[in-house]
Amino acid sequence: MNENLSIQEILQWYILSGVDATCSDAFQPLIKPLETPQNLLRPATTNLAQDFIASKQNARDICTKAKTLAELKNIVENFDGCALKLTAKSTVFGSGNEKAKLMFIGEAPGADEDRCGIPFVGKCGRLLDKMLTSIGIRRDDVYITNIVLWRPPGNRTPTDSEIAICLPFIKKQIELIKPQMIVFLGGSSANALLDNTEPISKLRGKWLEYPLSKKEFIPAMATFHPSYLLRNPSAKSKVWSDFLRIYKKLKKN
Ligand code: URA
Repeated sequence: MNENLSIQEILQWYILSGVDATCSDAFQPLIKPLETPQNLLRPATTNLAQDFIASKQNARDICTKAKTLAELKNIVENFDGCALKLTAKSTVFGSGNEKAKLMFIGEAPGADEDRCGIPFVGKCGRLLDKMLTSIGIRRDDVYITNIVLWRPPGNRTPTDSEIAICLPFIKKQIELIKPQMIVFLGGSSANALLDNTEPISKLRGKWLEYPLSKKEFIPAMATFHPSYLLRNPSAKSKVWSDFLRIYKKLKKN
């Protein structure tokens, strides 16, 4: 490419070539150099880093104003601090019973969810519905959300900064619903909300605690994500046994 092109011309060239969405919020070299040349090292005070810090703080601040889920939804729909919103069709806020005892938290909306604006309505959602039915729970009885509220382009995994920006919105949903129990669908949501890095293979099936405040904890369990089950049907029996334990504990309370 001609090195003298302006930014507009380069972007135009990308668009004409069919590249109309960014897949990440940071430059990622395809090949990692063995040593980063000094002139390529950038301080953490780039616009990108500052935007990230400001967006995270802004998300935290505006959340505190919400007294109801409807208010929070309205705040999220007017929030422009997450780059994922630029490529997504809809904001996929949580949905379900606002008085739910059981809350499910997945990773990120996919194409079907982006089209409808509702979490877990595609293939993964249909499997989740079946799993719920198998323990006698209706979807209308539970509340479902994701750790990011916009679809990452190409269904890629959300980046740490996208998760960090959306996290106050998820924590506020938990605070407003105040469920008796939380189920993390997959490792990403468990890691983000429990602030740990353990793989789902280690976390799965254990009783965990989500800290609602310094003194209050909500019992939680992490299990395999439905998309993992679609790829590995033999793992369904493990999730079935997790769901039975969740059901029994809920009945006891
Ligand atoms: N996978 C998720 O994690 N969430 C959805 O809403 C759909 C698929």
